[in-house]
Amino acid sequence: MHGETQGRQPPDRDLRSYGRRRGRALSARQKELWHRVLPQIALPNDVGALCQPTGLFASPVKQVWLEIGFGGGEHLIWQATHNPHVGLIGCEPFEDGVVKVLNAVDTDRLANIKVHADDGRPLLRMLPEASIDRVFILFPDPWPKKRHHKRRLVSEDTAAALARILRTGGELRVGTDIGAYACAILQAVLHNQRFAWMAAAPEDWRNRPPDWPPTRYEEKALREGRRCYYFRFRRA
Ligand SMILES: C[S@@+](CC[C@H](N)C(=O)[O-])C[C@H]1O[C@@H](n2cnc3c(N)ncnc32)[C@H](O)[C@@H]1O
Repeated sequence: MHGETQGRQPPDRDLRSYGRRRGRALSARQKELWHRVLPQIALPNDVGALCQPTGLFASPVKQVWLEIGFGGGEHLIWQATHNPHVGLIGCEPFEDGVVKVLNAVDTDRLANIKVHADDGRPLLRMLPEASIDRVFILFPDPWPKKRHHKRRLVSEDTAAALARILRTGGELRVGTDIGAYACAILQAVLHNQRFAWMAAAPEDWRNRPPDWPPTRYEEKALREGRRCYYFRFRRA
């Protein structure tokens, strides 16, 4: 029991959209990071503290970007490193992934990352309206069986929650390597009239933009010969 989220289930309204919370037991170094670094960068979980997200970071930031399901954190860390004036909030319930970000924050002294080591959906309900400039959901768990589709993270409900917290002109980026999920994502997001698909030509969703670094999951999908889809939506 090294995490206070240990064993906690998502609230009833959110069906579990992720797989494991834990992999192998954390090493001594990982446990040390968990206990020392996580409290320093954990997101406060009271609504009052979240009312001004730009004020959450150790360094001054002009915008706040949110990544839900950062996995091993490759994209989150890249964005934080390349955008020092942006505050990054990362949500991830899988401990091994969280520890990778803790390690990068500690080693590279990243002052613009906050971590919510849990389900991102309750956080969406706590964040103020129009408080976030960009949201990333990269390669969400595909839940391929039809009876599990209701567990998929990207849904009309999630799109509505994201439309509320994104400021006008903000951006939502979603990647997937599953064709059927790609269609479902387009349907769910574009069902919401506050989102407009930014693609003008097929190359725009077939190719990853230069400021969207690859993730571990995506690299595996490409190695295994799956096409990836890179969607960008503008919050109108
Ligand atoms: C297939 S992995 C992809 C990870 C990473 N984005 C990548 O591309 O390598 C999906 C990740 O989303 C996380 N996830 C699923 N549902 C989530 C939720 N409701 N809130 C936060 N993270 C979630 C899972 O734990 C998992 O790490």
